[in-house]
Formats: sequence, structure tokens, C-alpha cells
Amino acid sequence: MASPRRRRSRDHRDRRTAPGRDSGTYRGTHRTGMLGTMNRPRQNRSELHQALSSPLTELHDARLARPGVRLILKRDDLIHPLLPGNKWRKLRHNLVCAAELGHDTLLTFGGAYSNHVRAVAAAGARFGFTTIGVIRGEEHLPLNDTLTFAAEHGMRLTYLDRTTYRAKNSPSVVEGLRKEFGRFYLLPEGGSNALAVHGCAELPTEIDVPFDVICCPVGTGGTLAGIAAGLGPGPRALGFSVLRGGEFLRGDVTGLQIAAYGRPSGNWTIDCDFHAGGYARRNRELDTFITDFADRHGMPLDPTYTAKMMWGILSLAERRAFAPGTTVIAVITGPMTPVP
Ligand SMILES: Cc1ncc(COP(=O)(O)O)c(C=O)c1O
Repeated sequence: MASPRRRRSRDHRDRRTAPGRDSGTYRGTHRTGMLGTMNRPRQNRSELHQALSSPLTELHDARLARPGVRLILKRDDLIHPLLPGNKWRKLRHNLVCAAELGHDTLLTFGGAYSNHVRAVAAAGARFGFTTIGVIRGEEHLPLNDTLTFAAEHGMRLTYLDRTTYRAKNSPSVVEGLRKEFGRFYLLPEGGSNALAVHGCAELPTEIDVPFDVICCPVGTGGTLAGIAAGLGPGPRALGFSVLRGGEFLRGDVTGLQIAAYGRPSGNWTIDCDFHAGGYARRNRELDTFITDFADRHGMPLDPTYTAKMMWGILSLAERRAFAPGTTVIAVITGPMTPVP
């Protein structure tokens, strides 16, 4: 490995779960609860073979009625209590694959606020895998809520400086991680790989009403790649980039579809106008939209992902971007409220 400048690797699990730690780790301040890695409930893995489905709910709103648009929410946030939304869809086949290949350990990457890191920690605790979270940038103590949750679910946290983190998929960085942590099943940042795409492709098959457009937020592109690939002839998928300058995501989604199916599906587009300043950023317009939406519908929207998509859909409807009579499905890809 080309000696990346790795930050100190810390084990936030209770020492009893990790005896004889080497000098790179130290006793953390966060205890592992009953969900830690000593307790490996492999029997829960049968759950991974169930194809769960989420409900549809129609949203009635004058801003849609005027241009003659019907909007139906696909409430994927309700699909699994521990792994809501695209987390269940992206992880399910990967976890089955990891188990089939005889892996005990999952390793993944993410920022300090990553929903994906949180989900992998929860999945490891639930399905009996040891988990390692490789976090971008400096360690900050006390841990934020996401990393506290991860540590409490038995995840071992390690940190990579931003330069090394950018090269996280390079053979040298991965090899260095293997030297440090041993054999692991690697889940990429955001969990987006070919198996995740296959999992997301199951979503449209559950929709039993005719529709024209299906929308989702786009972070790394796996969810859109899968949803679009799972569409039959006719409807199109429309993703809303939650990143500023998300045009590059078009190449990423194409690449993910090629990895999963050998070719792009050609039935999707990405709108890059509703990022509200960039990832995890918000502006006054988005905040006003969220407040107004909660007043009208009693639904608090997650500002990082689903609020940007809903803002985009309602704005496009008001601009008459959808032909009268269009039925739009909006996939609620994660918890309605921001993850605490
Ligand atoms: C709630 C939620 N919605 C949407 C996305 C974006 O999905 P993707 O990274 O597959 O584009 C994410 C990130 O995985 C997410 O956490």
C-alpha cells in the first residue's frame, strides 16, 4: 500500500467485545449494547430472502391538481424498520452475497453523517456481521449521532484523510485496509454497486397502478440506476441530484447500469436544479418549501434527500413541465424526518 495517511483507528466498542486491541486502537467511550458483534444473530438472515414491498399513498395538492398531475408516493421509508427505503433495497442482495461467500465482516465508506454507514452498522448487528466504517476526514469527539449509532451497533470506526479517502477504491488503499482488518466484504460508498442496482430494480415491479414518470433523489446514483432498469416499456425515471454540479452523476448511473446489466437502460434523466446549494445544504427556498409542505400535508420531509425531490416535482408541475394527465410516482427513499 502506498502508505496513505490514515487517521488513528478507534474502536468505540466496549473493550470486552474486542480484547487485546493493538496499539492503533484504544478503549472507546461508547459501550456496545446487546446489538454488538459478540451477539451474532445469523438466524435473522432468513429475513434477507424475503422480498418486502412498500405501500402507495396519493398526495392531493392544489399545485398538482391545477396542471392535471396525479402524484403518488411510494412509501419506501416504511419498508423495513431498521433499514428503511433504499437501504433495504441496496443492502439485501449484498448481504446475501457476503454470507454466501463466507464473509463475517462488512467494510464500507462514508462521511460522518452517512445514512449508509448507519444502515450498514444496523444491518451488521441485525444479521450477524462484524462491521467496519471507514469515515472521511478527521475524527471529531464526541461522536455525532450517526457515528454514535454506528458505534453502539458494534461498528468499528476508522478515519481516512480526505486525500486518501478520494483514492479509497484504489487497489493500494483497499489492500492497506485488508492488511489492517483482514478479510472483508467491501460495500462501496453509498452502497451503490451492481447488486444494489438489482435490489432497487425490484421497486417498480411492486407498483400496481399505471404511471408515466417515477422520481427519486440521487446521491451516488444506485437507486436511480436500479429503478430505471426495473421499469417496463413506457414510463421514464427522473432523478433529482442532491449535489451541486451533479451532472457527473449521469456517467455514474450509466456505469452502474452497465455493471449490473451490461448496458444503460436509456429511460432516465437527472435534473440538477434542486440541490439547494449542495449536499446536506439548504437554502431559504427549500426551507420555505419544507415548512409549507408540512403545514399542508402534516409530513416533515428529510431536507437532504426527499425534500429536494418533492420540491423539484412540485416546482416542475407548477411550471407545467408535466403534460396534463401525467401520473408521477415519488419514491420516498428514506425516513420522512431527518435521521436523529
Ligand atoms: C434517504 C436517501 N435517499 C436517497 C439517497 C440517494 O441514493 P443513491 O445514493 O443511490 O443515489 C440516499 C443515499 O443513499 C439516501 O440516504
